[in-house]
Amino acid sequence: MHEETLDLSVPIEWACAQEQEGAIRFFNAAFRAEESGLRQASEMADAISTWDPELAETLRLYGEEEGWHRDLLTHFIAYLGGTIRPMGPTTSTFYKLYAHARKHETLILTNLMFETIGATTYRLALRTAKSHPAIRQMLTILTRDESFHVPLNVHFLRRLLEREPPGALHRLRPVYHALTAALMASAYASRRRTQRFDNIPFKALARAYAEHLGKLFVQADDLGLTPSRLLLATVGLRRSDLLGHAELLSTEAAEVAADRSRSVHAL
Ligand SMILES: [Fe+2]
Ligand SMILES: [Fe+2]
Repeated sequence: MHEETLDLSVPIEWACAQEQEGAIRFFNAAFRAEESGLRQASEMADAISTWDPELAETLRLYGEEEGWHRDLLTHFIAYLGGTIRPMGPTTSTFYKLYAHARKHETLILTNLMFETIGATTYRLALRTAKSHPAIRQMLTILTRDESFHVPLNVHFLRRLLEREPPGALHRLRPVYHALTAALMASAYASRRRTQRFDNIPFKALARAYAEHLGKLFVQADDLGLTPSRLLLATVGLRRSDLLGHAELLSTEAAEVAADRSRSVHAL
C-alpha cells in the first residue's frame, strides 16, 4: 500500500467557500483519527510484545498504516488549500478520554468503534461528496483500509479477552453503550461543520452509525455487546434489521478485506 501515491494534478474548483471549508474540516477530522490510531497502536504494541510478539508486530504494522494515512492526509489537506488545525472542544474531549483509557481491551473496543464509523462515513461520502478524482481517490483509500481495520480490531479484541478473566466483558458494556450514543451525537455535531462538502444528511449518518455499530456486535455475538433497542428505535431500526445481512466478520469477509484490490471493487 505504501507505494500508492495520490494524484493531485487536477485543481479543485469549489462551488463556494463553505464547500471548501467543509472539505478541510472533514479531512482534518480524518487526520486526528489517524494520528490517535498511530499513537495508541504503537504504545499497545510495546506492552503486548512481552507476551505475544506476533500480535504486537501486527499492531505495529496496523499503526504504521494509520501513519501512512496521516502523511497522505497532510499533503491532501494542503492541496485542498487548508492547514492542520487544532482540535475543537468536542473532538479533544473524545481523544482525551480515549488516551486515558488504560485497559487494552477498552482501547481496542474504542478503536474498533472509531474504525467502524470512519469506514461508514467514508463509504457514504464516496457516494455523496463533491465529485472530483483526487477526492474520490483519497476517500477510496480510506474506505478500503478502514474497512479492513474493522475485522482486524475484532481479532485484536478477541485475543486480548482470551487472556482476561470472564468479568472483563462486563466492564466493556457501559463503554460500548456510552460510546455508541456519543458517536451518534457526534454525527449531529459534524453536520454543522462538514455537510456542505460531504452532503450526508444527519438522519442518514446517524442511522448508518447505529446500523453498522449494531451489526458488528450482533455478528460478533461472542463479545456479548448487544445494541440498545431504545437507541436503535431513535433511528427507526430494530434488532432484527441487523440480522441476515452479508457477514462482516466471517473468514471469507476477512480474506476479501485482506486483498485490498478486491475490496475496492466491492465498494
Ligand atoms: Fe486510517
Ligand atoms: Fe484505521
